[in-house]
Amino acid sequence: MDFKLTEEQELIKQAARDFAQNELLSGVIERDEQQKFPEEEVKKMGELGFMGMMVDPKYGGSGLDTLSYVLAMEELSKVDASSSVIVSVNNSLVCWGLEAYGTEEQKEKYLPRLAAGEIIGAFCLSEPEAGSDATSQKTTAIDHGDHYLLNGTKNWITNGGTASVYLVIAQTDKEKKHRGINALIVEKDMEGFVIGPKENKLGIRGSDTHSLIFNDVKVPKENRIGEDGFGFKFAMKTLAGGRIGIAAQALGIAAGAYELALKYSKERKAFGTEISNHQAIAFKLADMHTQIQAARLLVYQAAKDKDNGENYDLSGAMAKLYASQVAMETTVEAVQIHGGNGFVKDYHVERLMRDAKITQIYEGTSEIQKIVISRSILN
Ligand code: CAA
Repeated sequence: MDFKLTEEQELIKQAARDFAQNELLSGVIERDEQQKFPEEEVKKMGELGFMGMMVDPKYGGSGLDTLSYVLAMEELSKVDASSSVIVSVNNSLVCWGLEAYGTEEQKEKYLPRLAAGEIIGAFCLSEPEAGSDATSQKTTAIDHGDHYLLNGTKNWITNGGTASVYLVIAQTDKEKKHRGINALIVEKDMEGFVIGPKENKLGIRGSDTHSLIFNDVKVPKENRIGEDGFGFKFAMKTLAGGRIGIAAQALGIAAGAYELALKYSKERKAFGTEISNHQAIAFKLADMHTQIQAARLLVYQAAKDKDNGENYDLSGAMAKLYASQVAMETTVEAVQIHGGNGFVKDYHVERLMRDAKITQIYEGTSEIQKIVISRSILN
């Protein structure tokens, strides 16, 4: 497969790289330490078109392909994975889900502001007892004629406190199991909707992650996405694309750590020479470079599959599984190459190592990706 980038894709990659270096880098350590949401930065990313990259221009988006999106995700994630997860959830889960399956009214109402970064969205599937086992939704959306009555709790929701629009997956008819689940658009100011405390996390600390509580929230019927009972398929379809975004995030974290380690190894001297001249370090760099390139090819392949209208469940799951593993291994090695400095916040690699871990957990753990992959190759 030909992965030669077009001129436009090269420009997008460069624009994301410039934004990351010029706008994200300077405050990234402080935001991580203080768990500070990148409010100004998200606004600017909206102005630059990064918040609705694949959204049709008629709804205010940039109208780009998935490959352009993963190129941007990689560059942003090299510097700040907290900012890139906000971009990823808004683009792949919320905007894409609404554009693919929403009604014309829903698209017109929400997409222009989401794509402009004026508001952001959240995707609410996980529950205290339904993370990986997504069919076991306890949150209920009971049909009351012209509205659903929503009750329950969602956990670990990215953009939980800062979003304005929430796509909530809930059970309407328990008897029908996954075919009785609906996806509803919930707005922040709906009565009975309570935002729980913010999680104090290991990584991606600049993004805000909350529990959400719904107490008899009246959600109008016109806020349902798709036909009655489409909610589980909606979640699966949307997550399949989301996994490509997270794979690109993992790739970016790995590549960011590698770039820092490479630079450091050419500057730092030990035993009379730059440490890159020691084979122990050079071999680590060789392994990192090879793994990152292999991950990149899987991520690009998944993006191309999506752009070409082919099934991307398998390629997206493989990209996420492998890129997240590479992110974890590469960042650990980057810390090792930095020695004592690697343990110090100023050098960035310890943060990238902490951020890498979540890519093996959210939007489906590595074990979930293996379920998707093994089912696909066995059937
Ligand atoms: N596309 C379309 N439909 C799909 C699908 C897909 N990719 N995957 C499954 N389905 C459909 C099946 O066809 C089936 O429908 P029918 O019975 O009508 O044919 C239905 O969904 C149920 O499928 P399964 O029997 O395969 O379901 P399962 O219970 O065995 O689960 C699973 C499959 C892959 C394990 C799934 O539960 C899963 O993906 N779990 C992980 C969920 C997850 O990723 N959670 C992360 C939370 S979101 C997040 O992290 C966002 C954030 O904040 C960053």
